Amino acid sequence: MPLDLSVQLAPKNKKGLRLANPVMTASGTFGYGMEYSQALDIQKLGAIICKGTTLEPREGNPQPRLVETAGGVINSIGLQNIGVKALIKEKAPVWAKWRVPVIVNIAGDTITEYAELAKKLDGVKGVSGLEVNISCPNVKAGGALFGANPDTAAAVTKAVRAATSLPVIVKLTPNTGDIAGVARAVAGAGADAVSLINSVKAMAIDISRRRPVFSNVTAGLSGPAVKPIAMALVYEVAGVVDIPVIGLGGIATAADALEFIMAGASAVQVGSATYRNPRAALDILEGIEWFMAKDGINKLAGIIGAARPAGKA
Ligand SMILES: Cc1cc2nc3c(=O)[nH]c(=O)nc-3n(C[C@H](O)[C@H](O)[C@H](O)COP(=O)(O)O)c2cc1C
Repeated sequence: MPLDLSVQLAPKNKKGLRLANPVMTASGTFGYGMEYSQALDIQKLGAIICKGTTLEPREGNPQPRLVETAGGVINSIGLQNIGVKALIKEKAPVWAKWRVPVIVNIAGDTITEYAELAKKLDGVKGVSGLEVNISCPNVKAGGALFGANPDTAAAVTKAVRAATSLPVIVKLTPNTGDIAGVARAVAGAGADAVSLINSVKAMAIDISRRRPVFSNVTAGLSGPAVKPIAMALVYEVAGVVDIPVIGLGGIATAADALEFIMAGASAVQVGSATYRNPRAALDILEGIEWFMAKDGINKLAGIIGAARPAGKA
């Protein structure tokens, strides 16, 4: 029997977000997709999530922006991107010809900015969904992350939901004491799915200069070092929401991806691993297929949440 790896990530949305398989690339680690088309057949991926996109183009933070650490990288890119206007003009027409769905990751400094981005992208050919990065500091609330608090997270989700009919994935930050509360709040505010985790707050110090390495002092840790943290949070969130959960954080092998799926994730994203191996996402997909064939599992649904207590999928 042929394997069925397909997954529906927006079952409550009219348009839906059906992926041929559960392996996506994570925002900020795969450009706009085209950059990698020489390294791998990108059309085989489940979905591509593009760079974080803002209303206006951004130059990002001063160097250094990326520092290796044990088991991962710390990044302080600062949302360098071409802005939504250029994205719609230059990138979306290319995506519209692709088989692989492209999801646009959006970020704003205010709720109005998020809503405006969602409105501009609504109905754009080549855009299959939005991923809302709520790990940005909420300027009006004094710099706390939108995603750190259930109320601000819900307010962003509600505004985006009202501005678009596209499937909406809300990307959760681990930098909160109440990720379950935030997940429940965004699900209640109309998110079609949640993805987690974004990078973990971290820092490094340059001992020769006796100064923090990054201009913003703290930055975001990703890579294998964060995987066990991400796993615990995905397991927790999958237990409190009834919308699809997308797991990410340190996935470098098919076994890593399968762990997230068994924890309750319907799909996974591959981020920093692409820096080491540009083919990482496809290698992971092939490994999942191999595992399913070996264990006689025909449908991905057969293993989603397999590690959860019975009856609590
Ligand atoms: C260089 C770099 C840039 C990133 N840019 C974004 C971004 O623009 N928007 C976003 O939501 N996440 C961004 N992320 C976070 C990743 O999408 C992902 O959530 C995080 O790296 C954890 O996954 P990983 O351990 O597989 O890399 C970025 C990560 C890295 C390493």
